[in-house]
Amino acid sequence: IGQQIKYLETCDSTNTLALKECLEEDIKEGFTWIADHQTQGRGQRGNTWLSKKGDNLLFSIYLKPKLQNQPHFYFSKAIACGIIEGLQVWSNERLPLQIKWPNDIYIGEQKLGGILIENQWAGSQWTHSIVGIGLNINQEEFGDLRANSLKQFLNKSEHIPREHVFHAICQSIEKYFKICQTHQFEEIETFYHDHLFRLNEWNLYQEVESNQIFDGKILQVNEQGLLLMEKQNGYKLYDLKEIIFIFP
Ligand code: BTN
Repeated sequence: IGQQIKYLETCDSTNTLALKECLEEDIKEGFTWIADHQTQGRGQRGNTWLSKKGDNLLFSIYLKPKLQNQPHFYFSKAIACGIIEGLQVWSNERLPLQIKWPNDIYIGEQKLGGILIENQWAGSQWTHSIVGIGLNINQEEFGDLRANSLKQFLNKSEHIPREHVFHAICQSIEKYFKICQTHQFEEIETFYHDHLFRLNEWNLYQEVESNQIFDGKILQVNEQGLLLMEKQNGYKLYDLKEIIFIFP
């Protein structure tokens, strides 16, 4: 991963490009598209992903997960673990990095990056995936967004060289991807939950369906990727879009 690279000064979206090119050309697993700027960067749930030119890391990796009869969410978890561990290695474990369900990368209480995985199918066969990763490295302005960059968090006056971060992350993603390919899911589960934002803490959430604000405690993200929440009146599983994290 990250060894064979196509670098683009600008493109619409590295994910869009990767999805197209991996069908047209003979691309090896692990091939990575990396851009300085995207004109149509995409986030999860149809959101746009904005990033100031040249400041951040924007890349997409071509992978072929072997999880035909296993829960697919392990793949997503493995990628999040790889990013966190890569950043820890890069920083000598000085950073409060966490995974906010389902797989946002948080530094403290702010978003440092996100993951957009797009899986491709031939009938019921999972043929390949494009894993898109956006990480804020040097950006200093985020408007109203609850977001931050490594540079700002570390209070650095100089730009952080992006290639060091990139290589550390690629190595750790490769490690966790191999763990996933050999179905050692316990290792993924442990690391994922050890770094899960708000695990075992009481916090405020909003249930989308009922609009109700409630006190809840995250107990687990299950293998389907659902959030298991303890509430005053029992337990409940939430899917994406069904629950909103409330921040003080
Ligand atoms: C999210 O948190 O919503 C996911 C953001 C993913 C952004 C990355 S940047 C590189 C790749 N190309 C895209 O268009 N999106 C992903």
